[in-house]
Amino acid sequence: MSSELPSGYVFVDTLEQIDIDAVHVFLTASYWALGRTRVQVERSLQRSVCVAVNHNGALAAFARSVTDGIAVAHINDVFVLPAHRRRGLSRMLVQHLIARPELADVKKVTLNTRDAHGVYTALGFTAPVHPQTAMELRRP
Ligand SMILES: CC(C)(COP(=O)(O)OP(=O)(O)OC[C@H]1O[C@@H](n2cnc3c(N)ncnc32)[C@H](O)[C@@H]1OP(=O)(O)O)[C@@H](O)C(=O)NCCC(=O)NCCS
Repeated sequence: MSSELPSGYVFVDTLEQIDIDAVHVFLTASYWALGRTRVQVERSLQRSVCVAVNHNGALAAFARSVTDGIAVAHINDVFVLPAHRRRGLSRMLVQHLIARPELADVKKVTLNTRDAHGVYTALGFTAPVHPQTAMELRRP
């Protein structure tokens, strides 16, 4: 699969190049991070491997992962801003994220999605192979 971004788009991999305010504006209105504060967003980004796509210096797409670099990585907060959708950016961004040195050798990469499964299946993601073994602790 091609990971060549459309003209005018660039990958950025450092927090200095990522517009955290724009990430916060999107996430705090999203179905999965509703109401997340600016401080919480910044803290989560500082503790994650973050990647984004910028267009003319402005945020177009974002994704992050928490990982131990060996056994597990979990991908969170994947989004493409509405003006930049349907150009393949989300797939290219996730492909870029899982190729980052921190994630490249990790054995199991997980994520949750309500309705965007099609973005990930082409990258090799499947439904959990042993869902009965997974557990989670939820907090309000
Ligand atoms: C879902 C989202 C990230 C897709 O971004 P995108 O850059 O427009 O997607 P792409 O152009 O890379 O599309 C890749 C594939 O996924 C499919 N796809 C895109 N959005 C989809 C969606 N909401 N549901 C199901 N499939 C979707 C596309 O049809 C395409 O498949 P194809 O190549 O077989 O036609 C974007 O619509 C978004 O940010 N939505 C709001 C936030 C969200 O739901 N994030 C997902 C959290 S897991």
